[in-house]
Amino acid sequence: MQPYSLTASTIMMNGVDLQSLTQRYGTPLYVMNESFIRNQAQRFKATFVHEHLKTTIFYASKAFLTLAMAQLIDEEGLSLDVVSLGELHTALKANFPPSRIIFHGNNKTSLELDYALKHHVETIVIDNPYELQLLIEKVSRPQKVMLRLNPGVEAHTHEYISTTKHDSKFGLSINDVETIEVMKTMINHPLLDFTGIHCHIGSQIFDPSSFHKEAQLLLEYMRDIKDNYDIEIKTLNLGGGFGVKYTDEDTPFDIQLYFHDLLDFIKNTCDEYQIIYPHVCIEPGRSIVAEAGVTIYTIGALKTTHSSKHFVFVDGSMADHIRTALYQAKYEARILERPLDPHDRIYSVAGKACETGDILIHESSLPTPNIGEHLVVFTTGAYHYSMASNYNRLLKPAVVFVNEDDARVVVKAQTLDDLLSSDVML
Ligand SMILES: Cc1ncc(COP(=O)(O)O)c(C=O)c1O
Repeated sequence: MQPYSLTASTIMMNGVDLQSLTQRYGTPLYVMNESFIRNQAQRFKATFVHEHLKTTIFYASKAFLTLAMAQLIDEEGLSLDVVSLGELHTALKANFPPSRIIFHGNNKTSLELDYALKHHVETIVIDNPYELQLLIEKVSRPQKVMLRLNPGVEAHTHEYISTTKHDSKFGLSINDVETIEVMKTMINHPLLDFTGIHCHIGSQIFDPSSFHKEAQLLLEYMRDIKDNYDIEIKTLNLGGGFGVKYTDEDTPFDIQLYFHDLLDFIKNTCDEYQIIYPHVCIEPGRSIVAEAGVTIYTIGALKTTHSSKHFVFVDGSMADHIRTALYQAKYEARILERPLDPHDRIYSVAGKACETGDILIHESSLPTPNIGEHLVVFTTGAYHYSMASNYNRLLKPAVVFVNEDDARVVVKAQTLDDLLSSDVML
């Protein structure tokens, strides 16, 4: 399923002309194809299955979470991964069942743990001994816990989204004996139910062998701790990180084929190592929502610098699109009114924030843009709205879901009053 289609004079999403949305809602505007997201959720559910293994998919809410999104994920029958009080609160306010929520984070606060315990979040993933101590001081009824591990896998992705290099801030190393002590503390605690181990090796990964490597190392670890400490791991959570296509340089692998191989590999390795089949979990975020989203901007000034660099300025900025500045991420864009027009030259698409680094696309091949036309930036469904800020006191755009000839606002555009709502005068 394609999230949108191009004609000579516009871009269509689910039967809706994106130009009509700019008239209705203004720009900048985040637009998400709701059926595409539902379809992705179902694709994951249909393919991450194995006849011998119990499997669960947690949608990683950091990629994109609002009340409507939490409802959608619930309706599609996926579970949910949250990492903060705000994500947890959003999920609960959307009536997402806490029995399908896993709580992550590398420095959960006392308030966050209280809230998670009070609302009976299914599993809390412990990142470090301090967090465990904090939880032990609070826990007063049975609570499932897991431990986040770092197996030291070098996934080939941007340094900032790679999470299991040996010097990563996340989890405890499988090479440290203290990790076993933390596990034993959980196992021996009368109220903690230690269910297993978690790992997330990074994001935007295109090489499936990284996930095989991750699984291999964790299964070896499971065998070793069973043999040496009689610790049995019932749940193995491999995290998220499945890559998506932002530009033609990106080549995501086919999850349909891959999950079957991965789950077979886990089953066969368990047989070989004589360990029990774990309940296998994954936490895709980006791969569920990224390609469903576009951002629409209005083109403002055009500028050619003294050194002949061609800029297109848009009415958004790094405040609604931070990934280029953060990870040197690349994007593709088209002019909404004539998306198939032949490209003329390379432009830099820049925002209106007071930062030289406020570039949305460093090199975008476009026809000569006209002031007042709209620019559609593709693949902005993940880590865009969720990473948006009010830098320069710019307002956060609305988010619209498009579904079968219809569009509905799921996040209203921020207003100037919203912007001031938390400020206090002297
Ligand atoms: C623990 C954990 N799980 C899942 C994810 C989701 O990753 P992605 O959106 O690349 O699938 C992340 C992303 O940072 C993560 O930290």
